[in-house]
Amino acid sequence: MATPDAVPVDYDSNPDRYRSGARLSKAYSQADLYARVASRLTGADLVLDVGCAEGVLREAMPDTRLIGLDMAMTFLRTHPAPRVRASATAIPFQDNTFDGVTTLNMLYHLADPTQALREAKRVLKPGGVLIASTIARSDSPEFAAYRERPPSTFDAEEAPEIVRGVFDEVEVDAWDAPLVTLPTKASVRDYLLARRVDEEAAERAARELDVPLTVTKRGALLVARKLV
Ligand SMILES: C[S@@+](CC[C@H](N)C(=O)[O-])C[C@H]1O[C@@H](n2cnc3c(N)ncnc32)[C@H](O)[C@@H]1O
Repeated sequence: MATPDAVPVDYDSNPDRYRSGARLSKAYSQADLYARVASRLTGADLVLDVGCAEGVLREAMPDTRLIGLDMAMTFLRTHPAPRVRASATAIPFQDNTFDGVTTLNMLYHLADPTQALREAKRVLKPGGVLIASTIARSDSPEFAAYRERPPSTFDAEEAPEIVRGVFDEVEVDAWDAPLVTLPTKASVRDYLLARRVDEEAAERAARELDVPLTVTKRGALLVARKLV
């Protein structure tokens, strides 16, 4: 496979695309990724959420001390304090600071996710946990005729291998299940627009696909521990 490109970021120029996707997932998904992550971090005293956006994880774990880190100012303004503007590749905290570090649906934005994973490991305390999530190239096969999904730098197919390059102990919690049900033609179109499908293809999918439409979600949560 040729070296994949990082997925481009548009969060400051078009924050509503992400917001629309988050709203649709919340409304129509039977799975709650953030509750799943929160349950893995029970007992953590201090968590760093790298690529925190507007605080979707913060919302799922209101009783944990959590610092949000993101590059997009538009999102950081909304994320509750404490929060910091920085890159995942240069985390402005000392070694051995956090019990948990999360990188949820964000490592595919980096040309070299390994650099960010090394930073996450550096700021974790010994015994601390990294949780990363990502989607698979084969995600949402129902939409295969309407979009091209080039490989990214951190697809679920290769993500376990990439994380194992940095952490010794890595558990993979993968899913491949009909987890989203889109009830209307408008929700099919909006769901695709939020996933960067162009307007013409999104409209065509809405016309051609029957609703309610069940979408097969494929992805993985990677739970890695820093041993020493
Ligand atoms: C797809 S959103 C995911 C947001 C949230 N974690 C979630 O699961 O909904 C990706 C986030 O990563 C942030 N991001 C992208 N590149 C980054 C980098 N190099 N360092 C820190 N954050 C970054 C974006 O600004 C955006 O908020």
